[in-house]
Amino acid sequence: MSDRVKKIVFDPEERKVLDMTFGPGVAAELVGRTPEALAKAEKEGRLAAPKQLANGRRFYTLEDLTQIRESLGIHPGKADHEDAVVIAVQNFKGGVGKSTITKHFADYLALHGYKVLVIDCDPQASTTTMFDIKPEMLLDEEKTLGNFLSPRSNFDDFPASIHDTAWPTIKVIPSSLGLQDAEWDLTATLREGGQAVREGLQRLRIGIENVIKDFDVILLDPPPAMGFLGLNVMAAATGLLVPVPARQLDYLSTIHFMNTIAENIEVLEANDTPVDYGFIRVVCSAFSPNKPGENDMWKMMQATYGMYLLSQPILASEEIKNATQAFRSVYESKPSASHATYNRCRENLDAVFNEVVQQMRQQWPSTSIAGPSSDALASAAA
Ligand SMILES: Nc1ncnc2c1ncn2[C@@H]1O[C@H](COP(=O)(O)OP(=O)(O)O)[C@@H](O)[C@H]1O
Ligand SMILES: [Mg+2]
Repeated sequence: MSDRVKKIVFDPEERKVLDMTFGPGVAAELVGRTPEALAKAEKEGRLAAPKQLANGRRFYTLEDLTQIRESLGIHPGKADHEDAVVIAVQNFKGGVGKSTITKHFADYLALHGYKVLVIDCDPQASTTTMFDIKPEMLLDEEKTLGNFLSPRSNFDDFPASIHDTAWPTIKVIPSSLGLQDAEWDLTATLREGGQAVREGLQRLRIGIENVIKDFDVILLDPPPAMGFLGLNVMAAATGLLVPVPARQLDYLSTIHFMNTIAENIEVLEANDTPVDYGFIRVVCSAFSPNKPGENDMWKMMQATYGMYLLSQPILASEEIKNATQAFRSVYESKPSASHATYNRCRENLDAVFNEVVQQMRQQWPSTSIAGPSSDALASAAA
């Protein structure tokens, strides 16, 4: 029966195909060189000649960017012996932008040459869907995160649950409804206590250790409620990015959330699972400066969180709304209205994510001495 369902649901023709090309200016920016430097390397034969449209315009694909980085020895990520930074986009509330940020940040990182693993820990699986994996297609329950996390499971092959995506350098561990069972099984370890609880809290962390050298960044999209799954995410993370919309109610619930985080860190510590976050940053998500009250809220957030708040909020944008409704990111989409609106949205996201990248790079001794990248300096100067 499951084979029949698979045949009906799984249509290989339906897979997302990335239709992305970059002009010389953008391509140069993404690999961190000037267009002149690229043109020179092409002329000298250190790089292959770029593809051309019929009208003579030169363009590059994602694969071309990878090729350019390899040929010119540009290595934006960590050194081989270093560990991936594991970032949880954490907030126990639904609808605050967790999945939207996870998807957009993953795409941003891939565009800039980082190797990314996205782990969808939310049984609702919206991030999984945005990476073009239909949760109902994953009938092979054995190779899912849920099965790995369940203490009942004897499936220890964490890397086997890693799936390819349309992006060559983004992999995803999809979520499935089985995650809810895992939550239940994990909670049941409380009855056994001691060692069983500790192992239950560390399942995700232990799984990630298998692949920690293979990626630059591992992004965790946590479940919206606190429980054993949420504790697994907190135990596995080495950095937290907390999205908070500039709405009164979300703000209050975030204060509650901060207290919950503190309590949960104590629970983890009491069970031999201490955490040590390299950074914690709050990001104001879906900010509408023209909505009554939101500007005041933004000021209040600045006063409350100080240096822990990213200096730029993520603006509410129809581009983001339209893209995510089509299960895509803005980076994968064409402008839905004017080019100006689209570009403004992308520039805003780029500025926000660049700030997180600076935090991330400080976690790797091999990149932290290099100092902030040129675009960070540019935005600081602006
Ligand atoms: N910056 C934004 N601008 C416009 N819409 C947004 C923005 N961020 C998120 N949204 C929308 O808000 C809704 C909830 O976002 P989502 O990322 O699914 O939240 P969560 O994962 O925290 O539950 C989605 O419909 C998404 O399209
Ligand atoms: Mg979500």
